[in-house]
This record gives sequence, C-alpha cells and structure tokens, in this order.
Amino acid sequence: MTPDVLAAKTRVFDRWAPNYDWLFTTVFYQAVHQRLLSYVHLPSDSPAAVLDMGCGTGKLLNRLASQYPQLQGTGLDLSPEMLRQARSHNGHRPRLIFVQGASEAMPFADHQFRAAFSTISFLHYPDPQQVFKEIGRILQPEGQFYLVDYTPFFGLGTRQNMAGLGGPMHFYSSQQRENLAAHAGLICNAHHPLLGPVLLSVFQKPV
Ligand SMILES: C[S@@+](CC[C@H](N)C(=O)[O-])C[C@H]1O[C@@H](n2cnc3c(N)ncnc32)[C@H](O)[C@@H]1O
Repeated sequence: MTPDVLAAKTRVFDRWAPNYDWLFTTVFYQAVHQRLLSYVHLPSDSPAAVLDMGCGTGKLLNRLASQYPQLQGTGLDLSPEMLRQARSHNGHRPRLIFVQGASEAMPFADHQFRAAFSTISFLHYPDPQQVFKEIGRILQPEGQFYLVDYTPFFGLGTRQNMAGLGGPMHFYSSQQRENLAAHAGLICNAHHPLLGPVLLSVFQKPV
C-alpha cells in the first residue's frame, strides 16, 4: 500500500506545485512558519545541518537560512515539481539544497542532522512509525525534531479521506505523537499551539 500512496501523493503535489505559494498557502502556512520560528533554538555561531522533510517550495528553509547565517539546510520532498519550485526560489545557494525522496526511507547518513522539521507534511505519511524511526536515525544525539501539523479538529477523527489529496490524511493528538516518538526512542520536550488546530510538538534524541 505504501508505494501506491506515495505515488498518488507525488501526483497531487506535482499538480499543486506551480500554484502552491498562492492564496491560502501563502497566508496560512507562512503564518505557521513564522510562529514556529519563535520556538526554534539553533546555534548561531556555528554551522548546523538541518533537514526539512516534505519541504514543498522551500519557504521554511529560506526563512531559517536568513535567521541563522551559518545554517546548512537540506529539503527533502517526494514531488519533483515542488522541488523545481524550491530550487528556483533558493535564496541561499549553496547553503540550501533540495533532494528528492520519501521521509519513510531518507537518503541520508546516520546522525547527519542537528535538527529536523516537518510542517504540514506528516499528515500525508502512510507509515508514521517508520518516519519516526528514520528521524531517530538521522538526528545527532541531543538533536531536535520540530513536528508541526494539524491535531484532530471539528470533531473529525484521526484519519480523513479527502478527495483530491491522494489518499488518507492523519491528524495526530499530542498523546499519539508522544507514543510514536517514544517507540523511536525520542523524548517529547513540549507542545505549543501555533494557529487554530495546528500544533507544534518538539522532540529530542537523547544523548
Ligand atoms: C502541504 S505540503 C507542505 C510543504 C511545506 N512543508 C510547507 O510548510 O509549506 C506537503 C508536502 O509534503 C510532501 N510529502 C508528502 N508525503 C511525503 C513523503 N512521504 N515523503 C516526503 N515528502 C512528502 C509533498 O510532496 C508536499 O510537498
């Protein structure tokens, strides 16, 4: 099932990519990114390697690179068309690079990153436990994972099939996020509501 879901999601986001930064996404997701940044703590005096999973058009990494002049950022996404947008709007070459791949099987070395981000992408993952396992693998000891996504809202259940979005979406509560993280050996530091039902959960890999 997972390869079929990933292929369907790729088609959806390839079609959406040329218009992704218009209207809803510009206003809503940009506000989410801005609020997320107020909770991010990265070294400003040394190079930190960070990963954005499901990076889309790369807006979050561009913001992070502006705020942290030594940051080295990698964006990972399934969709070649999203990556095309990200590369053409890369304001921090060569510090930011964009790579095609799935969060379920990341093409990165163990302990490669000081921090990992996922904004409004985790809900699309057909195998969330596998993604957490990968995060546990690619993070350095004491590295942090910033998970930003919808919690269940308007009485909706955790799994929603929305036409046109390439298969199911999953909304995880703070407790469900903690359970997934615990199975991957990550500790939850905090949860912060960002905007409406969008919740930031911060996890840490132990030493
Ligand atoms: C709603 S967009 C969010 C993009 C960006 N993070 C933002 O905040 O604007 C979701 C992105 O996740 C990507 N995506 C979905 N499933 C993925 C997976 N399994 N692995 C990697 N990327 C995935 C999609 O291609 C899409 O670019």
